[in-house]
Amino acid sequence: MSEQLGFIGTGNITTAVVEGLCTADFPPATIVVSPRNALKASKLSQRFSQVRIAASNQEVIDTCDTIFLATLPQIATSTLADLQFRQNQTIISLVAAISLGEMRKLVEPVQNVIRAIPLPPVAQHLGPILLYPENQKAISIFNKVGRPLTVATEQQFNLLTTVTALIGPFYALIDETTRWATAAGVDQPIAASYTAAMFHALSVLALDVPDGKFSTLVTEASSPGGLNEQALEVVRKHGGYDAFKKALDAIAIRMGEVPPSAQSGNR
Ligand SMILES: NC(=O)c1ccc[n+]([C@@H]2O[C@H](COP(=O)([O-])OP(=O)(O)OC[C@H]3O[C@@H](n4cnc5c(N)ncnc54)[C@H](OP(=O)(O)O)[C@@H]3O)[C@@H](O)[C@H]2O)c1
Repeated sequence: MSEQLGFIGTGNITTAVVEGLCTADFPPATIVVSPRNALKASKLSQRFSQVRIAASNQEVIDTCDTIFLATLPQIATSTLADLQFRQNQTIISLVAAISLGEMRKLVEPVQNVIRAIPLPPVAQHLGPILLYPENQKAISIFNKVGRPLTVATEQQFNLLTTVTALIGPFYALIDETTRWATAAGVDQPIAASYTAAMFHALSVLALDVPDGKFSTLVTEASSPGGLNEQALEVVRKHGGYDAFKKALDAIAIRMGEVPPSAQSGNR
């Protein structure tokens, strides 16, 4: 019998993962989602024949061997405390702020507990999916919707989860750039599509840079006396990149990690 995948917490990230899975080349036979949020669950079941809405969170657990946990962290503890799990299940926690150790206690007696961070573009089968610890079942599921990337330690998992906090600031950069061009006189739809397409193309190039040496891209783009060199100088002078590093520091601390600026030798 083919495996049923279950989801507890039918919100934004569950919607994206389920959409990605159901539109993949080899979609799962059945996906069981928890009834809350009712509208999102209903939209998924209307759109995809594989999706069934369970009557309760417990029914998701009772009918599935692999269960994704995707509630907000502040209600995860109370929600999971009322549920009964089985030892041979696999739990894939998408809850960014709960450690593996805490999650293992919440889903006892389950042994196989994995943390994962898929991002909204999984709906279009794009982007990295962070995993810890290594787990072949999770990799084969997430292979359908993006690029699974397993890290060797939970510290690395938390630090790369920290990086995902730049999604909002990244979109804000696209938004502010578009607003600036529009205010200066460019037609809004043209400004918007040009800006988004430019950042998209630049990101695609960055994916292919050997060993992540992005500084070579900076150098190549900033020819002496050119527009990019001037813009880079202005952004640096105004602490643009320092602001990003400060944001990463603040999120790392919230994730329970020590940011580079607080490590000995960097004070
Ligand atoms: N969004 C992302 O890009 C992303 C990426 C990776 C990981 N995550 C993690 O995934 C989790 C969910 O994030 P999200 O953005 O999807 O949040 P969300 O859209 O708010 O989804 C959470 C869902 O949980 C439901 N819920 C509330 N109480 C529940 C209960 N007792 N039992 C079952 N479901 C319940 C909510 O229903 P109501 O709407 O009715 O309250 C809501 O639909 C978070 O822990 C976050 O850290 C998110």
